[in-house]
Amino acid sequence: MLNLGVLASGRGSNFQSIIDEIEAGRINASIKLLIVDKADAYAVERAKKHSIGYLYFNPKQFPSKDDFFIKIADELKTRDVELVVLAGFMRIVRKPLIDAFPNRIMNIHPALLPSFPGLHGQKQAADYGVRISGCTVHFVDEGMDNGPVIIQAAVPVSPDDTEETLSARILKLEHRIYPEAIRLYSEGRLRVEGRIVKISGYELKDEYIVNPPLG
Ligand code: GAR
Repeated sequence: MLNLGVLASGRGSNFQSIIDEIEAGRINASIKLLIVDKADAYAVERAKKHSIGYLYFNPKQFPSKDDFFIKIADELKTRDVELVVLAGFMRIVRKPLIDAFPNRIMNIHPALLPSFPGLHGQKQAADYGVRISGCTVHFVDEGMDNGPVIIQAAVPVSPDDTEETLSARILKLEHRIYPEAIRLYSEGRLRVEGRIVKISGYELKDEYIVNPPLG
């Protein structure tokens, strides 16, 4: 069984999708700890409901950003966490945590990286006027939304989309691909070679999506 630690800042709907897949028996994992950096993060309510231990750390109460991440790494290591899952954690992870969990931290981002990294990926895509956007699960390195890609999923974008409508469409897919990436990891099927994540048992389906469809 894979021991998970989850870091979140807010609503925690991705955290919930992972809890649900574990409870349904589709991922052989156990969530050992939730850590939040916001006192009012709703993710905490979800942890309570599912009897998952949680901690709140206020980054401002640490002498430096590195000290904040050293503390997080210590708490995760103490609980034998093997994979760290960033679920709407709105901070750039720093070296002490990355060094403690090399290629063992995952993040989900609401755009097709490397397009639209950083905050409000959905708004950036809607404002740019792209026809296709989506979401990306990737391993975390020291760059922002930069590490090796594990899974991506695409959605069409309408010229009438707003940040809200596009976010809702993308979120549905986030809730599918994040648990899937964790399942692949828990089954030992992911191997990182430089920037490339090799997936054992993966078969490419040669399908193309054209949006808007060709007339
Ligand atoms: C999700 O859309 C996630 O992709 C995004 O924050 C939201 C959190 O929702 N993360 C980022 O933008 C990271 N750069 P949730 O708290 O309901 O899971």
